[in-house]
Amino acid sequence: MAGFIQAPLSELHAPYAPLLQTALHLVSPTAVHTALDLGCGPGLKTAWLAQHVHPGGQVLGIDRSIPQSAGDAHYAWIAADAHALPLARATLDLVWCVAAYTFFERPTAVLAEVRRTLRPQGSMIIASAYQLWVRPREWPPVVFEAWRAVPPPAGDGLGAALETALRNAGFGAATCSAYLLDPPMDDPLRAALPLAAWDDLAPQIATHLTPQERAACQAAEEAVEPEPRSVLLVAVGHC
Ligand SMILES: C[S@@+](CC[C@H](N)C(=O)[O-])C[C@H]1O[C@@H](n2cnc3c(N)ncnc32)[C@H](O)[C@@H]1O
Repeated sequence: MAGFIQAPLSELHAPYAPLLQTALHLVSPTAVHTALDLGCGPGLKTAWLAQHVHPGGQVLGIDRSIPQSAGDAHYAWIAADAHALPLARATLDLVWCVAAYTFFERPTAVLAEVRRTLRPQGSMIIASAYQLWVRPREWPPVVFEAWRAVPPPAGDGLGAALETALRNAGFGAATCSAYLLDPPMDDPLRAALPLAAWDDLAPQIATHLTPQERAACQAAEEAVEPEPRSVLLVAVGHC
């Protein structure tokens, strides 16, 4: 076990800070007792996770390669492989895995390990950036005014593989949101709505729109063409 210094968030990850923090807040609006930053690397985002842990609770950071410098003694840093977590069954409330899932050699085995170590009401968040072919809709402004709730579900099957992997690992419920990373957007809804499908939005907002506005939305859905973009997928599994 080793501690290390909290470095400032790297420029690379700064653009999606608000997106990740929103996801964390949605999954864990109230504090938990024990949380794990899986594949924590230098721990740049572990402090965000710590904000969702009760005072007196425990924050763990696990990575197979933890920097060996002295540092923050509030968290427990453990050098270990995600495929064999050195943790007892049902000891964690929340696991967060940022920019690490795609590095795991056997992600199915890692998810099984996470599921084993989560308590019955526990949750897991997987956040990873990808270069994907997506269909970014150019919605009329009224869509951004009408949709005010949580990020919408990702359209076009984006994130379906992550949702399936979570369900196959024994998570009872799994959802995935997708966010455009370029250009960087502070507002998670602005980043997510272009990647939502009209079929998913319409049931909740169509009644608030005029027939002309609904027709404009349908036209935006039909006109959009695939293009390669940087996308952040945030998948959440609940036990
Ligand atoms: C791109 S870094 C992300 C670090 C941190 N989560 C962040 O967002 O700043 C990916 C991390 O995953 C870790 N990692 C990859 N495979 C792992 C494994 N099998 N077990 C534990 N950690 C692993 C790497 O050592 C690396 O620190």
